[in-house]
Amino acid sequence: MNWPDVSRDSLAERFPLSRVTTFRIGGPARWAVSPRDGNEVAAALRTARDAGMAVHVVGMGSNLLVADGGVDGLVLLARTLSSRGVDGDLAVFGSGVSNAVALRFARAHGLGGLECLVGYPGTLGGAVRMNAGGTSGYIGDRVEWVRAVDRDGAVRVLSPGECAFRYRGSDLDHLVVTEVALRLPLADPEEFLLRCREIYDRKRSSQPLHLPSAGCVWKNPSRVSGGGRSAGRLVDEAGCKGLRVGGAEVSSMHANFMVNLGGATCADVLALCDEVHRRVLDATGVHLEREVILWGGVASTASVA
Ligand code: EPU
Repeated sequence: MNWPDVSRDSLAERFPLSRVTTFRIGGPARWAVSPRDGNEVAAALRTARDAGMAVHVVGMGSNLLVADGGVDGLVLLARTLSSRGVDGDLAVFGSGVSNAVALRFARAHGLGGLECLVGYPGTLGGAVRMNAGGTSGYIGDRVEWVRAVDRDGAVRVLSPGECAFRYRGSDLDHLVVTEVALRLPLADPEEFLLRCREIYDRKRSSQPLHLPSAGCVWKNPSRVSGGGRSAGRLVDEAGCKGLRVGGAEVSSMHANFMVNLGGATCADVLALCDEVHRRVLDATGVHLEREVILWGGVASTASVA
């Protein structure tokens, strides 16, 4: 397979995706490209399109579950899109910049407003695509524009309206985000740091941030379907904390997290998801919807302990 306009150094074959997911789960990607810039993203996308290949993008893989058999086609490893710059209150980041680095960079320039990213071990590209956030706000509210490349390799710059941010989603799914511009409020660096530390400490005391996971597994149901109860609470009330399949466990710290105790497979996690979904439905009548993104087809054969 020939990859015109993609440097050899950027290319890998049969790349193990468990290395780039926070769950530490997943088989290989047939092809992986670590693009140096937007042009290399566009070149890789055009080649993949001409070869009829599926394309996936991963940053830190913090909301991702990859099949044990891996995925065919091309995976773009976005971490190498790591540029950053600031002009007044506008901070512009490559989509592969981690949330932690973006927070530090903003603070170093007297900017704040990124409390919504604290405790999410992801990249800005992923954060924007899924409109990451929670009780401390949502990243979509800070976006000025997003630069992205489409399947034909054409560059597009999207306004927040065109991104159509919503709870745990946006209209960016079929594009590869390469750059994100955030309009941020001025903030005293010390105060901003204290606020972020408080949020982080709160998360650390209620979420299993010390173990490999993909964060919250389920979306919070709407007020109507969930009766105002969060997914974590519903899973907890259905008695699922501590349920295990293989190396995967429903966290006893926060029921919306599944953790990899060591050697968990994707099939383990999916079997556990099936069981939790069934128990919550039986106990509460609520159909939980998975938040974690699944790559590759899998049949779960493992059984619940
Ligand atoms: N709760 C339980 N049992 C549990 C966990 C939670 O009863 O095991 C109860 C809590 O006591 C609380 C309620 O459920 O009354 C909500 O819990 P929490 O404050 O932890 O918030 P959440 O809705 O579960 C959301 C985001 C998190 C984000 C937090 C804090 C979703 C699906 N999750 O969690 O995002 O960190 O707010 O901002 O929207 C993620 O998406 O990966 C994630 C961790």
